[in-house]
Amino acid sequence: MRCKVLIFCAIICLLVMLADGKQRQRTKSRSLAVKQGHRNGANRNLHSNARRGNRLAARTKNRRNRRLNAAKKNRRRRNLAKKSKKNLKKSTPTASTGAKYLELPINFRQGFERTTNTFRSERAFLSARYGTNFAKTYGTARLSNIGNMEYDVKMSIGTPKQKFTMLPDTGSSNIWVPGPKCKSKACKNHKKFHPAKSSTYKKKTKAFAIEYGSGSVKGRLAEDTVSLAGLTVVNQTFAMTRSEPGEAFEESKFDGILGLGFQSISVDNVKTLIQNMCEQKVITDCIFAICLRGGGTSSKGGSLFIGNKNTTAYTGSNSYVYTPVTKKGYWQMKLDGFYVGSTKVSGAAQAIVDSGTSLIAAPLQAYKEFVKVTGCTPTSSGECWVKCSTHIPDIIFIVNGKKIIIKGDKVKMKVKTKKGHTVCLLIVTYEGTDFWILGDPVLRTSCVVFDEAKNRIGFAAIT
Ligand SMILES: *[C@@H]1O[C@H](CO)[C@@H](O)[C@H](O)[C@H]1NC(C)=O
Ligand SMILES: *[C@@H]1O[C@H](CO)[C@@H](O)[C@H](O)[C@H]1NC(C)=O
Repeated sequence: MRCKVLIFCAIICLLVMLADGKQRQRTKSRSLAVKQGHRNGANRNLHSNARRGNRLAARTKNRRNRRLNAAKKNRRRRNLAKKSKKNLKKSTPTASTGAKYLELPINFRQGFERTTNTFRSERAFLSARYGTNFAKTYGTARLSNIGNMEYDVKMSIGTPKQKFTMLPDTGSSNIWVPGPKCKSKACKNHKKFHPAKSSTYKKKTKAFAIEYGSGSVKGRLAEDTVSLAGLTVVNQTFAMTRSEPGEAFEESKFDGILGLGFQSISVDNVKTLIQNMCEQKVITDCIFAICLRGGGTSSKGGSLFIGNKNTTAYTGSNSYVYTPVTKKGYWQMKLDGFYVGSTKVSGAAQAIVDSGTSLIAAPLQAYKEFVKVTGCTPTSSGECWVKCSTHIPDIIFIVNGKKIIIKGDKVKMKVKTKKGHTVCLLIVTYEGTDFWILGDPVLRTSCVVFDEAKNRIGFAAIT
């Protein structure tokens, strides 16, 4: 009899030891997994960062809850008489079950409701820990179309946000807005940035000057938080202008220019907004895309997609054809050929995609051929005119074997002369460049993806 009891006791002891050992092993492998995660952290993408962040937060919460509960239990033990057993059970953590997306059991405080506030503070906690923002990894901004000649986007600078209308320009790489001391007429007509009203503004002393095909501005650099398409970048260097001479920017709807080219053509070698978005992991896919809508003045002028190339709202099931960036600076690529109808006007040539140019510019030889084939009347300033009744065939660019077609009626733009006559300006002009400039008319026929990560440009026809 005694012997039987001893054996029974021994079996119980063995089971308890086994169970204890297993538990310890589980705990050990769990902390190993978390350490591994930490070590590889830098190479992981944001998504797994977020997941790991949640796991770590859960672990911290576990520990805190365990500590809290131990303290509570002690307190409870001390005045046991007052507490009902049911209450005690209620405050004891229970492992969650059945939630597949959580790899570690989480101890929920019962009756704890997740509100948007707790969610936000948790996110802020994670952001602070990793210096990143898990909230969004892409954004879309609506563009407004000013008479098919200008497309603008809303952007804000500073804390609190000061809002600006910007021209998104893939043909340059700096950001500038009118500064507080600018007295030019162009500055009086537009919104100025007020550094004194921004708590995140950082002063810089370096001078800034930039010249565009259409005008120039001068000022100095500054640094502040910049938000675009719901995405926020800190420490973005931009310029505040002190003068905007001439008429170039007087009548524009935009206050400033948002350069979307590469850093190598950025004045003062300033890091671009897209670059900072990638480095600060505001976007995980280092790309942006532009789709323009025609139709003149409209608040629905298309979209600027950042960190995302889901342009199906514009392109339907049309797929992208890609071509490599041949030189980083502008968004430069090789054009395989150019046709007017079935007539070949130009063979292979270099081209840049420039959202800041409202027309298309051809190299000299191609322009001369274009004038001959269409029978338009060239002016000394590089434009070519026809009577609006003149038939113009479709024009076709060949990119990596695929056709980008601009319909003949879209090659003509109706313009009123000073005398009140209506004539038609052709969208193909000569600007003195030895490369093609593919401006807005191309972006109205195709969504274009500017892929910094893979160093390529993609085109998909807009439906
Ligand atoms: C921004 O600048 C501040 C100091 O000027 C620095 O502490 C912070 O780390 C910077 N943040 C990023 C993401 O570069
Ligand atoms: C892409 O965008 C369309 C429309 O904007 C949306 O319906 C679709 O769900 C999106 N697809 C993905 C994979 O996000």
